[in-house]
Amino acid sequence: MNRVHIKTYGCQMNERDSEAVASLLRARGYAMVEDEAEADVVLLNTCAVRDLAEQKAMGKAAHLNKRKRRNPRFLVGVLGCMAQNRGVDLLDRLPDLDLLVGTQKFHRVPDMLDNLLATQSGLGPRPKTLVDLDAEAGSQNEIRGHISPGDAPQVSAYISIMQGCNMHCTFCIVPKTRGEERSRPMDDIVREAEELVANGTREITLLGQIVTSYGRREFPMVDGKTPFVQLLERLHALPNLHRIRFTSPHPSGYKPDLVAAFRDLPKLGEYAHLPLQSGSDRILRAMNRPYTADSYRRLIDKLREAQPKMWFSTDIIVGFPGEADADFAATRDLFDDIGFEMAYLFKYSTRTGTPAAEMEDRIPEDIAEARHTELMQILEKHSLRRNEALVGTVEEVLPQEPARRPLGRLLGRTRGYRKVFFDAPERLLGELTQVRITKATVAALEGEVVVND
Ligand code: 5AD
Repeated sequence: MNRVHIKTYGCQMNERDSEAVASLLRARGYAMVEDEAEADVVLLNTCAVRDLAEQKAMGKAAHLNKRKRRNPRFLVGVLGCMAQNRGVDLLDRLPDLDLLVGTQKFHRVPDMLDNLLATQSGLGPRPKTLVDLDAEAGSQNEIRGHISPGDAPQVSAYISIMQGCNMHCTFCIVPKTRGEERSRPMDDIVREAEELVANGTREITLLGQIVTSYGRREFPMVDGKTPFVQLLERLHALPNLHRIRFTSPHPSGYKPDLVAAFRDLPKLGEYAHLPLQSGSDRILRAMNRPYTADSYRRLIDKLREAQPKMWFSTDIIVGFPGEADADFAATRDLFDDIGFEMAYLFKYSTRTGTPAAEMEDRIPEDIAEARHTELMQILEKHSLRRNEALVGTVEEVLPQEPARRPLGRLLGRTRGYRKVFFDAPERLLGELTQVRITKATVAALEGEVVVND
């Protein structure tokens, strides 16, 4: 049997796409292996959002190609966003690749691998790299449940609801790698959720590059509600589904109906991700982000009104072209003022082909680094403060998976999406559990199950 290892870089959308490829390959008789050293085929599912992500995958691919030289039967493929972004030019750097597959062609991987393996059995020169980077019309309608009956049940599962993004933030490569926004039919999504729940799934994370825009072209508003909120309501009605999450959203997608959903739909929990990117209106304009520091602030206030216990996370880019000290100070002050408990902090990375790549007034690396460090310290302060405030309280936790170590512990998440480690038997996986918090660090909590007698 051919053994395949998939290594995934980047976001949850990529993780979900890797799961889909794994499931299709398993159904074709391939064995998926955790250990890359044991694999006959290694597939890298790549990310293009920042240069570092591309360099990592590129380095890995070059390293694997050395293994190919020792063992010509060993196959290496590059899938996903970097393949889409770089196209066949990637083959100048990595001429020995066997497979190059774009973001709309993941479903073709089993056929392509079958073909490669069939030609491999004969003698003769190495077959040419198989390449498929095309767009696929209507691909959103072809998204199916990506977990097959033979796959292990998951307490927490992803559902892809839309693909692509039309926002055109000036720093961002995603419109190129993932294409135009297109949404999947609502009935298909609800059916997939029902099947997952019947199989033991208790938490669903809805995925899309701009998930809050779900269906805005395809489906009408109903009772003043956007298609995204209509979908949330339908999923919320499913018995035995405990939690619903979504990523990645856009602040302008938090319309009044979504804000109200945090009050009316308890399965959403008390957690929202709101990518801010910058706290300077000048930089926000240059980024083509259609909100101001002020309107963003008001949105946070409205969400806190709807749901007082809300926890917030965000994404910030420091060192965007033209970011003066005053611009960064505005970001820092807003960031500190809102007091995010979680954040993904990035230094601006130039993406060829995006409008920002043409902008002048580049920020030197040492300044970007210092700004990054400053925000990191603020983040740690707020994370620790809010986590510590939970010590002694009882939280509703959804135990998600056995912790990697120590054995016997489970990893779960609070309603505010904080990680909690606690001792409990595996039969509690997927059962909402009351946990008393005993310890807090910046990144996680520890606790003990509250026993009712
Ligand atoms: N440089 C740095 N960070 C970026 N992001 C997107 N593009 C870039 C870039 N060119 C960040 C944004 C986005 C997150 C997923 O990645 O903060 O929200």
